[in-house]
Amino acid sequence: MKLWGGRFKGDTDKLMEDFNSSISFDMRLFKYDVEGSIAHAKGLNKAGVLKDDETKLIVDGLNEILKETDTGFIPDDEDVHTYVERLLTEKIGDVGKKLHTGRSRNDQVATDVRLYLRDVAGEIGKNIETLIDTLKNKAFEHKNVIMPGYTHLQRAQPVTFGHHMMAYVEMFKRDLSRLNDMVKRVNVMPLGSGALAGTSYNIDRMYVAKLLGFDDITKNSLDAVSDRDFVIEFLSFSSIMMMHLSRFCEEIVLWSSKEFDFVELDDRYSTGSSMMPQKKNPDAAELIRGKAGRVYGSLMTLLTVMKGLPLAYNKDMQEDKEALFDAIDTLKMSIAVFNGMVKTMKVKSDNMANAAKYGYMNATDFADYLVFKGIPFRKAHEITGKVVLYAIDKNCAIEDLSIDELKSFCDVIDEDVYSAIDLRNTIKNKKTIGSPRLDD
Ligand code: ARG
Repeated sequence: MKLWGGRFKGDTDKLMEDFNSSISFDMRLFKYDVEGSIAHAKGLNKAGVLKDDETKLIVDGLNEILKETDTGFIPDDEDVHTYVERLLTEKIGDVGKKLHTGRSRNDQVATDVRLYLRDVAGEIGKNIETLIDTLKNKAFEHKNVIMPGYTHLQRAQPVTFGHHMMAYVEMFKRDLSRLNDMVKRVNVMPLGSGALAGTSYNIDRMYVAKLLGFDDITKNSLDAVSDRDFVIEFLSFSSIMMMHLSRFCEEIVLWSSKEFDFVELDDRYSTGSSMMPQKKNPDAAELIRGKAGRVYGSLMTLLTVMKGLPLAYNKDMQEDKEALFDAIDTLKMSIAVFNGMVKTMKVKSDNMANAAKYGYMNATDFADYLVFKGIPFRKAHEITGKVVLYAIDKNCAIEDLSIDELKSFCDVIDEDVYSAIDLRNTIKNKKTIGSPRLDD
């Protein structure tokens, strides 16, 4: 069955039919297409287009279809909209043919995707909350574990592992807020915009929107059927979130190397080598890092598909779905695997603390000590640099130098310097909001 056969004399080429068809992927919208259709039928009823008994037949028929259809099976129809209409007509007869009054697949598909994305966003939001909880627990468990903080991947200043975890909590909180913000723009109903120019049936769009749980209706029919900003927003959110996951994964790859040896991934989230028997590889982290590229690809796909499209609907826009669905599946899977990987990851606290001892990471605090004793910071910086150079030469830490050696660089230095540059104290002395913290 075609929804548009009347104007045609000849058949569609078989290859063209396959090329044009979207049912292999838009079956995912089945439930939403049926729900949207039920609301549309009620809207037509309120507008006086469908009689009460016709509406009941259609609505009951659609509800049954929703219950009994196996959506794992891909039928031959052009798309999910054609399929639902065929099922309905086969079930209730000619009345089913009235359903598409005042509606186009253009406003229909835009409505379906929005309904679907609204649900998905709810699910992903919960997944992000779970992930944030995992990270907070990990942070809390290791709140007093000192580790090196890095800039340029060079040891910079000591921080805590808890503080490092909480940095990612901040990122994922922003991701969640971006997602929730997007939902406001997703939850607006295009139905009633017709193919592009609205409809002459007096459909109460606000009534239909309420039935479907939309907060509002679109205000311009041309925009409504050709807007895919909400898909692009979702893909932007997903790309940013994948970027955050990927950064963390990069650290996990580094940390699980012998060179760092800060964490050990659980066997459940590691794999081996077919040739090198000793290997334990952080494949979960690497795959998530790799899949970030895949999600960026979806974002680029949609930005590129949309950039040259004249108003209103163009078939190019059918390309939105595979990119969107793939990004959703990839993001959901990545969050789930990441959550398990982090939850089960063993933190090697001693190795972290040990690494923090080397690398002169208390040099800034040494300079701050001199400032506290009245030396201007720039001068203090220079003196400290000389002390570090001297210690490097002696192959020892600043705190290993004797008080006489230290005094030879600057006579304001006293015994209290050792406590000021003690690693734990350097963290404890941090005053500003947002600094790392250590319990006593
Ligand atoms: N499968 C189409 C899509 O995803 C549905 C809309 C078709 N509209 C049309 N005018 N051919 O965009």
